[in-house]
Amino acid sequence: MGTPAHLPSIIAIDGPASSGKSTLGKGMADRLGYLFFDTGVMYRAITWLALSQGVPVQDGAALTELARRSDIDIRPPSVADRRNCDILVDGTDVTWSIREQQVDSQVSAVSAVPGVRQALTLQQQRIGQRGQVVMVGRDIGTVVMPQAELKIFLVASAEERARRRYEELHQRGEEADYSQILAGLRRRDEIDSSRQVAPLRPADDAKLIDSDGLDAAQVLEYAMRLVYQAAEQDP
Ligand code: DC
Repeated sequence: MGTPAHLPSIIAIDGPASSGKSTLGKGMADRLGYLFFDTGVMYRAITWLALSQGVPVQDGAALTELARRSDIDIRPPSVADRRNCDILVDGTDVTWSIREQQVDSQVSAVSAVPGVRQALTLQQQRIGQRGQVVMVGRDIGTVVMPQAELKIFLVASAEERARRRYEELHQRGEEADYSQILAGLRRRDEIDSSRQVAPLRPADDAKLIDSDGLDAAQVLEYAMRLVYQAAEQDP
């Protein structure tokens, strides 16, 4: 019997909003028996907390303070309502509330605050360094886990992403307007890519996947080939 191939232990997936990162990351983590860690939920949790406490999203110092002292916990799902995990902020279950449109529209501004990024990046590194993890975000390959053995940058056109997001909201029975979603995605792309700290961009050694015209299963198969290729290069 040959030696088992050395599978990448830390896998980073970055890309713009609604490009399918979470679906891909969850699929890869399930196949590999790894932890799936969607780092965007942390920025969403702080945004939800700021909105619920009336902290203005322009107040960088107050947001930094919130990020430093809040306890964000990600646990196995306790409710069978199609959630991947429970997301708790200071003990409150915010799994679905962090997906509401009010959070969607403010989260890019909150995640552009350097102090918020610093606090959350440290927490993410602590979890990621344990290995056997698929981490999803905007700056995983460039800043949070530059040592990841496999880095994927997943893209899709804004129209395709807006269509997917529309379907997702529609299926959940929420009101959705395609042109508003498209405009919102473009605005978030602009903020995420142009912020000063850790802007959205592919790492130099990232593998680019364009998911336009591919379904989730095809993207997963392609990404799993990259996993095995990475293992062959590092036996
Ligand atoms: O992936 P998402 O849409 O849930 O991310 C929410 C926001 O958080 C998004 O505007 C970008 C930001 N984010 C980030 O800046 N860095 C990460 N590692 C993850 C998310």
